[in-house]
Amino acid sequence: MGARKLAVAPYSRFRVGAALLTVKGAIVTGANVESVSYGLTCCAERVALFKALTQGERDFAAIAVVARAPKGPMPCGACRQLLAEYAPRALIWVADSAKPARVRTFKMAALLPEAFRNVPRQ
Ligand code: THU
Repeated sequence: MGARKLAVAPYSRFRVGAALLTVKGAIVTGANVESVSYGLTCCAERVALFKALTQGERDFAAIAVVARAPKGPMPCGACRQLLAEYAPRALIWVADSAKPARVRTFKMAALLPEAFRNVPRQ
């Protein structure tokens, strides 16, 4: 996936690409961006999601996530939370960039069951 090539990952050298597909067929890509203060790093999934949301996109059909990793990169907990909030219906397609045709598909509910969705009124 082309998005991976734009990763800014000088510390881990683990380059991840993500592509969100909207229900209308638009594609918004992202890649991971790392910081020397490691905890500030942002995953490819969140970069793609924040780009898409700030372009006005709201309905997502799927997100593809690709990296050079056996079976592909599984989204971290932070990304799962944000995807559960903003892309609850999206399928998650995960693939190893060395075997891009071998795609594993997950549903949001399987990756983050019982997600926190709203602050109860006090
Ligand atoms: N990373 C992602 O971008 N997405 C994932 O699904 C897993 C991890 C990034 C964050 C960091 O830049 C690097 O991979 C190593 O953890």
